[in-house]
Amino acid sequence: MTIFKVEFLTLLLAGCSSSFSVMPRIYLLNIGYNGGTVYQVNGATVVNPDASVVLGNIVGQTRLEVRIGYFALCLRSSPGAWLCSQNATSLAENLYAYEDPINLVHVAQTFREKIVFPYLLIIAAALSFIVFVLILPYPPLLKTVAVGICFLSAILVLISVLWQHTASVGAATVATNLANGTIFTGVGITAMILGWFTFGLLTLTVIGVYFFVAINALHSV
Ligand SMILES: *[C@@H]1O[C@H](CO)[C@@H](O)[C@H](O)[C@H]1NC(C)=O
Repeated sequence: MTIFKVEFLTLLLAGCSSSFSVMPRIYLLNIGYNGGTVYQVNGATVVNPDASVVLGNIVGQTRLEVRIGYFALCLRSSPGAWLCSQNATSLAENLYAYEDPINLVHVAQTFREKIVFPYLLIIAAALSFIVFVLILPYPPLLKTVAVGICFLSAILVLISVLWQHTASVGAATVATNLANGTIFTGVGITAMILGWFTFGLLTLTVIGVYFFVAINALHSV
């Protein structure tokens, strides 16, 4: 079970880093154009209802979608194959202005560079791996150390996942409203499940190993 956590974290961190198989499906946030459909924003605070129309005219018919992972972006201009890269510049170079009229690739890259923070998860993955090694049949003292490391790892994952979740939901809400209904946004469900599931597994491990150590201590008195 312990090795799964390392795998989950690695998969989460590697999301969007290649066009291969499931990678484009592991993203934190996606943004894309509605292909010409404009969802007019409503509400008592809307001062300029025409903004949707004006922006709709700029956006045109494009269907470009961008997905943001911890280290890379994926994009596709129309339903079909994904193009993924850690180098956003090289992705942007292949697009024409009409394909990305309000610079969503730039928005995505800014989000990834300035808001996404993968380093706590990297530390957590390394710690989980150490726990995996320590948890093999070794003396109880090492198991106690393992509980400590596992606890630390669980906290780091909790902080990262909360951060990832809050930042993605926040960015998604602001981006859709700012674009006045000409774009869609979404939070990557697979990435969220991977993150929260890893946190759950780590918490279970802490509890499990703690009881193991406690019962062993009782037996040895
Ligand atoms: C990213 O791609 C651009 C254009 O293709 C290139 O000039 C740049 O050196 C690349 N950056 C890295 C870090 O590879």
